[in-house]
Amino acid sequence: MDLVVEGRLFLGDRLEQGCVGIEDGRIVAVKKVLRGERRIDAGYRIVLPAAMDPHVHFRQPGMTHKEDFESGSLAALHGGVTTVLDMPNTIPPTDRSASLKDKLRMVRGRSFVDYGLFITTDLPRRLEAMSKLAAGLKIFMGSTTGSLLNNEDRSIQRMLKKAAELSMPVSVHAEDDMLIQHEEANDLKGHLRNRPAEAEFNAVQRLIAMGARGVNLCHVTRAEILDMAVRAGMSTEVACHHMMLDIGCGLAGRGKVNPPLRQPAARTALYSAVTSGKATMMGSDHAPHTIEEKAEEFDICPSGVPGVETSFPLMMAAVKRNEMPLTELVRMACDAPARRFGIPKGRIEEGMLADLAVYDPREVTVIDGGELHSRCGWSPYEGMEAIFPQTVIMAGEIQLKGGELCGERKGRNIKDAWI
Ligand code: NCD
Ligand code: ZN
Ligand code: ZN
Ligand code: ZN
Repeated sequence: MDLVVEGRLFLGDRLEQGCVGIEDGRIVAVKKVLRGERRIDAGYRIVLPAAMDPHVHFRQPGMTHKEDFESGSLAALHGGVTTVLDMPNTIPPTDRSASLKDKLRMVRGRSFVDYGLFITTDLPRRLEAMSKLAAGLKIFMGSTTGSLLNNEDRSIQRMLKKAAELSMPVSVHAEDDMLIQHEEANDLKGHLRNRPAEAEFNAVQRLIAMGARGVNLCHVTRAEILDMAVRAGMSTEVACHHMMLDIGCGLAGRGKVNPPLRQPAARTALYSAVTSGKATMMGSDHAPHTIEEKAEEFDICPSGVPGVETSFPLMMAAVKRNEMPLTELVRMACDAPARRFGIPKGRIEEGMLADLAVYDPREVTVIDGGELHSRCGWSPYEGMEAIFPQTVIMAGEIQLKGGELCGERKGRNIKDAWI
């Protein structure tokens, strides 16, 4: 045995004192007692599968003053996340083989966590050319950072058909651009007026009418849409900011995000639907912009909030407050994304990659944006409670110890042969 981790293990539906045996990066045994020279004794602490974030914007290439794979993956690691899927709205966008290959070359050897790259294109031929190297296709039905719009039924349908042939996952930013207004907005209320919930409902209804079964809906803001998605055979992603923040949060430009923060009642409805198990996955939609950019006049300030480091820790604190069942959290943040994107992670089980995170439920801290690892240097969750991981293991290697980095840039592309 290369390494044995002992503690209160999360085994699908319960916590149980036991040992995880690791060899060659995989879990090879889960038993009450296991021998091994190298041991981590977590004692009463909780040992969970590490999380996977199916939606981050690490900004490389072209906007590395906001983030890059080094800073972004470091933030992920400190948030208990060992796999990320990165979005294609970079400069240049990841929309053809050449830019995809360039990006893969750039990222190789730089990431502390495993990664997959989303691409975007409205040309089936290009999708086919990129399918072996990309984690999935991203479709933007509403305008947002970058301008990579595809809001035409026929074009969307053509891409869905091609993606299905190629067995490629599809994630959609579902806001119908026809229902988005571009009026001047000076506060979160104004931004919400420009991007009403109807834009989201309409986009999802159109996808349903297109027969878009199997599509993944990014950053769902309304509880009703979670139900619609289940009936239509779609998966869903929810982001912490839509569960924890609303237009009353007082964040001004820092709270500007697409889809927008909603009314308090919509937020609490979403949160309670999620805690009762209605969402498929949690995805942070980590969209860093610098403090300076977010301090600009509201109307020109860019949309997006960081979250890859705080998502799971905020929810761990919610577990401690008895708002969120631990089983639901682990299912949404670890198991479901791994299953959805075909990665052998997310469960403490023989044969899985040994990606684990150790949490001490007694160590509740308060979020300080300046102490986080994203290059953007701030957090919309300033002052909120979180439980950060103390130890994070990726493929059997200790990457984080006592909350401090001790690993190397060992992240791999999930589309490479090692899996
Ligand atoms: C994202 C970004 O900045 O890249 N912004 C956002 O408000 N969520 C893009 C996106 O996911 O829509
Ligand atoms: Zn989006
Ligand atoms: Zn528009
Ligand atoms: Zn996004």
